[in-house]
Amino acid sequence: MCGIVGYVGSKQALSVVVDGLRRLEYRGYDSAGVAVVSENKLKVRKKAGKLTKLESLLGDDPLPSSTCAIGHTRWATHGIPNDINAHPHLDQDQKFAVIHNGIIENFAQLRAELEATGTNLASDTDTEVVAHLLASEYPKTKSLTKAMQQVVSRLRGAFTLVAISSEEPDLLVGARRNSPLVVGRGIGENFLASDVSAFISHTKSAIELGQDQIVELTSESIKIINFDGSDALFKEYEIDWDISAAEKGGYELFMLKEIAEQPQAVRDTLAGRINEKGILNFSDFQISDETIKEIKKVVFIACGTAFHAGLIGKYAVERWTRLPSEAEIASEFRYRDPILDKESLVVAISQSGETMDTLMAVKHAKEQGAKVLAITNTQGSTLGREADAVLYTRAGPEVAVASTKAFLTQVVAVELLALYLAQVKAVTQTSEIKKVLEDILDMSHAIDVVLDTMPQVKEIAEKYKSAKSILFIGRQAGYPVALEGALKLKELAYMHAEGFAAGELKHGPIALIEAGSPVIVIVPSLEHDPILHEKIISNIQEVKARGASVVALAEAGDEVVSLYADQVIRLPKVPSLLQPLVATVPLQVFAAQLAKVKGHDVDQPRNLAKSVTVE
Ligand code: M6R
Repeated sequence: MCGIVGYVGSKQALSVVVDGLRRLEYRGYDSAGVAVVSENKLKVRKKAGKLTKLESLLGDDPLPSSTCAIGHTRWATHGIPNDINAHPHLDQDQKFAVIHNGIIENFAQLRAELEATGTNLASDTDTEVVAHLLASEYPKTKSLTKAMQQVVSRLRGAFTLVAISSEEPDLLVGARRNSPLVVGRGIGENFLASDVSAFISHTKSAIELGQDQIVELTSESIKIINFDGSDALFKEYEIDWDISAAEKGGYELFMLKEIAEQPQAVRDTLAGRINEKGILNFSDFQISDETIKEIKKVVFIACGTAFHAGLIGKYAVERWTRLPSEAEIASEFRYRDPILDKESLVVAISQSGETMDTLMAVKHAKEQGAKVLAITNTQGSTLGREADAVLYTRAGPEVAVASTKAFLTQVVAVELLALYLAQVKAVTQTSEIKKVLEDILDMSHAIDVVLDTMPQVKEIAEKYKSAKSILFIGRQAGYPVALEGALKLKELAYMHAEGFAAGELKHGPIALIEAGSPVIVIVPSLEHDPILHEKIISNIQEVKARGASVVALAEAGDEVVSLYADQVIRLPKVPSLLQPLVATVPLQVFAAQLAKVKGHDVDQPRNLAKSVTVE
């Protein structure tokens, strides 16, 4: 939530920062703002609404040229999204400008203290207190870095901050706690950002800041210390993708591009992990075989779409390892008393690796002694650092707020993990594991085949544009797909949608069905799961008998379903546990198309942000 970018160097700082904000806008788009230091004065422009509003303002009321600037794109927490609450925030004398990602939990108390000493606060945000506190600390040391050190010692909560000052015009100071902040190391220029995409067109050399660290940047130097002033340990790395991965590349929408990239993302996630003998080769897996052999329980924790991947992981672990497994919504898990110990493996799934609910759940799991494995798409993320081991999905940057390729690669990762545990524990025949791995290797081709059904899916979607509500039903691995289909529709088309386990319908939800109600059914494989197939055919008949209009997602050659469904979207024939990899794709297209027809912003749906860094 909220994108932060800062630049110091010889280029036009404002254009570097605005360009960076364009790439970070997926993190929040309630308002945007920039500040520059020019001729020893701070100048700010900020505007409610998307970045384009700020760009028009900058066109009408330009800022002077500068070599040091900061920029922010906001997802509102404290204070409505208006011009005043937009970042950057300034102190009363307009000498310190601050941008922030996170929530300062003790801001009310700090605000009251400031007001008691005669400070007038202009906004309703928690962030503004930092600008005033910097102003009161600065005179003591005449150092922005030292003032920042003092200020952070007074803050509670999640606060990644970047500040500039007219007092030290060539300096950028950042502080990191609980939300991401990455340094980009350039030649004669340096960068700070919430995510490397903001500066990847300038440098691929990055530094991952640790928790509770302060960074001081000039065009020529980078100094990193801990909040207490001691020397900090940090990790430098090269970014392994380039700017084209974060651009639309001829597609109308990022989401459509990312849907189309799914076969490649799946291939990349598998690459090098299955050897020529059909054995899983997890050279990048940092949990020893001895530890794996001791694992007695596997718990998946995640939020939103990633939680749906966790549900699939639970089915895969049960199937291949015969270990007890659970999938839990991270925000619930975090406040419960889960039964965990050192023989439990907790698998935290998160595309961004920055979702606060998931991070807090990880902390909770570690406190109970569990081993934590992260499945994340983001190198250098907090989750990767907090976990005992990391399994990276290799989806590449996902820019659209609605998760697509990240989800499919998470599904691949949980399947591989389950098979790997089974391989190390030797609970499943090697030949069986080998057969599933062969099937997994074929999945990118199967997804390609499904992508060919897009025109039919779009036509079907348009037919339902006036529906009040759309229900999705599935059984076993089809159930998380139903949940995912409904989530996509809610977040993109703003339509009421629910996903149900098909067997649950008769226990209540069937009362929702009336003449014409659309019901989308994920049909289990007739070949691999004849019993479940029969059950879902009964469920289709039950809703049809009450007037529903049924769209079935069913495998090629399943003619039984054609007798009952109004429309059938064909899927390639794949084993049941792999079916989510093909069945989810039409539902992504379905939701995107309905959103488009309704005139919504598909890549940046209302009220959402890509990376949810608050609880
Ligand atoms: O970055 P994460 O995978 O932790 O994000 C979790 C959810 O916020 C995310 O999957 C969300 O549900 C998506 N916008 C759904 O498309």
